[in-house]
Amino acid sequence: MPRVSTKPVDMDTIVSLCKRRGYVFPSSEIYGGLGSAWDYGPLGVELKRNIKNAWWQANIQERDDVVGLDSAIILNPQAWVASGHVQGFSDPLVDCKACHMRWRLDAIKDGKCPSCGGEVTEPRQFNLMFKTFAGPVEEAASVVYLRPETAQGIFLNFQNVLTTTRRKLPFGIAQIGKSFRNEITPGNFIFRTREFEQMEIEYFVKPGEDEKLFQDWLKARFNWYLNLGMRKENLRLRQHGKDELAHYARDCYDVEYLFPMGWSELEGIANRGDFDLKQHSKHSGKDLSYFDEEAKQHYFPYVIEPSAGADRSALAFLIDAYDEEEVKGEKRAILRLHPTLAPIKVAILPLSRNNEEMNKQAKNIYSMLRKSWMVQYDDAQSIGRRYRRQDEIGTPFAVTIDFQSLEDKMVTIRSRDSMAQIRVPIATLSDTLKNKLDGEAIEVLPVGGVMWKSEEKAGS
Ligand code: GLY
Repeated sequence: MPRVSTKPVDMDTIVSLCKRRGYVFPSSEIYGGLGSAWDYGPLGVELKRNIKNAWWQANIQERDDVVGLDSAIILNPQAWVASGHVQGFSDPLVDCKACHMRWRLDAIKDGKCPSCGGEVTEPRQFNLMFKTFAGPVEEAASVVYLRPETAQGIFLNFQNVLTTTRRKLPFGIAQIGKSFRNEITPGNFIFRTREFEQMEIEYFVKPGEDEKLFQDWLKARFNWYLNLGMRKENLRLRQHGKDELAHYARDCYDVEYLFPMGWSELEGIANRGDFDLKQHSKHSGKDLSYFDEEAKQHYFPYVIEPSAGADRSALAFLIDAYDEEEVKGEKRAILRLHPTLAPIKVAILPLSRNNEEMNKQAKNIYSMLRKSWMVQYDDAQSIGRRYRRQDEIGTPFAVTIDFQSLEDKMVTIRSRDSMAQIRVPIATLSDTLKNKLDGEAIEVLPVGGVMWKSEEKAGS
């Protein structure tokens, strides 16, 4: 069903839906919250898990040149000296001499404080890494950092993975995990937070083959968002200007999404050259070069790095899926999430909660379906309200058990997007739903949302 609303959704609508329905809560709320920290509720955790699983499936499971890893968050601090983060991972900041607010230099116009108009100090560099101590003594020798990117844990394991898997170039190592940055200006809900989850791949290639493989990754990663139903007009690839490139990057593109606050980064895809492996070789004294058996030579591979944000992806998928339409004079809010991402795949709705036989039949269906998917049983309030509730949380299908079901052993499947209903035997319900959820009968429409192919043919 093509989306109806043409009005872009604002962030407040998404934040409020997330809170009301259990997608995302403000963290530590009972203590007044903690700036820009958020907790994923029962639906949010499913959405994020589905995003991470879809990423893992596309990049590790379905490729034969990428393997997975789960490295530590706290590394030997020398790793961050070698990577350049101790010296260079900083933002220039200024203080207002009048109100003492601290600002990023790029927020200052005409040398004045944006809050009170006061004079500001000269800029100073502020390192974004969270620093703490390992062990009981708080001294310089025990300083460690929370990782600001998962990437370095991959570089440190380059030789371990190479020898244990006997890989040849090109090959990649991927991991998903939390990273931490002491951002001065976090914000825009879960877009920029100090604690966030990354999905990163370091793809090692022979120098000279890097530019072509870089282009392949740009396409693969852009298409990943499209294949999960994101609207093409809300996605773009933007090349970094020379002045924007990180200290390690030879080239970089961002996959950007048109968020309510404007085009912003979902994922960075960088050509890191041989910067990292060379640096770690130099600082550790261990040779991290690669021996190319065909060419009979040692060299440092170049690295292509697709680095995506799981939280940003969750936000973009939610925003992209949000739609509103009017049905019989009432507003219907829908999350047209791709079935792969929807937290709940199927709702089981007995028409009446007072009929024992109907409840028994519905519970049997519930027990059967929950073995395959996250499903939800709901017998509270009118069937119309229950449909609306499921629409608003993005459940692609609802199965309704009615009085007729007790006679003919058939139930109704209702589609979230088109609201079309079909009646199917309970005996084949699981297979029918599997086909629909696996996409055999589902088509991702260019405008977003999904539709059963059979419905499209029927012109409904
Ligand atoms: N590893 C790249 C980044 O965290 O931005």
